[in-house]
Amino acid sequence: MSNLSVVGLQWGDEGKGKIIDYLAGRYDAVARFNGGSNAGHTVVIGGMKHTFHLIPSGALKGKELLVGAAVALDPVVMGEELSLLPDDVRRRLLVDGRCGVVSPVDKDFDRMLEEMRGQSAIGTTRRGIGPSYALRALRLTPRVSDLVDGFDFGPLTDFYRKLSLDPAGLISWAEDSKKLLRDMVGNVSSRVAEITEKGGSVLFEGSQGTLLDLMHGSYPYVTSTHTTASYIPSALGIPPSMAGSALGVTKCYATRVGGGPFPTEITGPLADSIRSLGKEYGATTGRPRRVGWLDLVALKYAIALNGATEIAVSKLDVLSQVKDFRVCTSYRYQGKLTTDFQSALGHLDEVEPVYDSPLSIHGASFAGGIPDEISKLIDYLEERLKVRVSLVSHGEERSETIEV
Ligand code: GDP
Ligand code: IMO
Ligand code: MG
Repeated sequence: MSNLSVVGLQWGDEGKGKIIDYLAGRYDAVARFNGGSNAGHTVVIGGMKHTFHLIPSGALKGKELLVGAAVALDPVVMGEELSLLPDDVRRRLLVDGRCGVVSPVDKDFDRMLEEMRGQSAIGTTRRGIGPSYALRALRLTPRVSDLVDGFDFGPLTDFYRKLSLDPAGLISWAEDSKKLLRDMVGNVSSRVAEITEKGGSVLFEGSQGTLLDLMHGSYPYVTSTHTTASYIPSALGIPPSMAGSALGVTKCYATRVGGGPFPTEITGPLADSIRSLGKEYGATTGRPRRVGWLDLVALKYAIALNGATEIAVSKLDVLSQVKDFRVCTSYRYQGKLTTDFQSALGHLDEVEPVYDSPLSIHGASFAGGIPDEISKLIDYLEERLKVRVSLVSHGEERSETIEV
């Protein structure tokens, strides 16, 4: 089996965690490659809900767990997360020494920047991820290996003070972080290469979604790093030839949490009903997620950017309980129709979605496998998107995933 990446094709929260948990059994290791504790990946087993922020979502499948160099690592969150998981998770975990860390002051910095933006706030998770990556680019962020070896906090504390941020407490935080991290630091690039060269395989876990990508998403309403499969080689420090293929995850509708344009957004009773049926509240912040119809214009762009050869479609149980079913097939802008998402990115808040109601999935039941209505939907999506639908998800439980 070759390596595979699992990435979000929308605005995050597509159900990546559930799909990674489902697939993890076939791989030797699961490696997180981007983002930080802004991510919240949910796995539900026998009614027990587990939310992963930094620990790879293969944790409950007994797999080796890798956290690559491009992850913004918050030691406090990692410590809290580990305390909720069985002891063996810690022993299976390897964190790359080159990961930049997120300090408590970065969270204050995040809040300060959001307050500064006022009406045009991004609606960040306030987890300090943006500031940590920005300080990394300024070469001020300590890496995990720096915390373990001893770090000169002078320049960083001076910088924080200049911004009227309070760096008190940084030294004791660094001491606690060192104790937590010292036994798990290593080289994830070498480990991925070693597994792959011995004929094993690694599942790469993406966080956020393609439309939140720092370069290729709805800037400035995006996250602070790259979110597509094409980032994997440089993020993990492996050759492109080792990245394998990409599986994209999408809901059968769309959600977004935080600010920014959302062409297919719906509001009112129908949106409230989908939010409630789909429990659309942020796994990290608990914020209600904005809800809308599936946007095939955006999805096509995301599939192309990731080079995804297959997709997983989640939340089919949710729309099966809703009478209306629509998908956006093009945008109208200044009287003209377009299906080119990239060219619409500059005025995404002004486009008018054009919908198709290709079929009804209302009342579809998964008791006997994939129902006819869903088979028709799969055919429709495969035809429109020119990609294979390899998995469908029809509930939050681990068991509620079907291979097509
Ligand atoms: P991720 O960030 O992409 O891993 O997704 P999240 O975990 O943040 O959000 C997905 C939410 O939907 C979680 O609460 C999952 O338990 C849940 N979920 C995933 N797939 C399905 C599905 O097919 N049906 C339903 N009803 N819930 C799902
Ligand atoms: P997972 O991995 C959904 C969003 C925030 C905000 C923007 C910037 O669970 O899919 P940030 O804190 O990253 O600076 O916030 O990005 N965002 C997410 N939305 N799922 C996520 O991760 C997200 N991570 C960040 O809501 O709009
Ligand atoms: Mg999430």
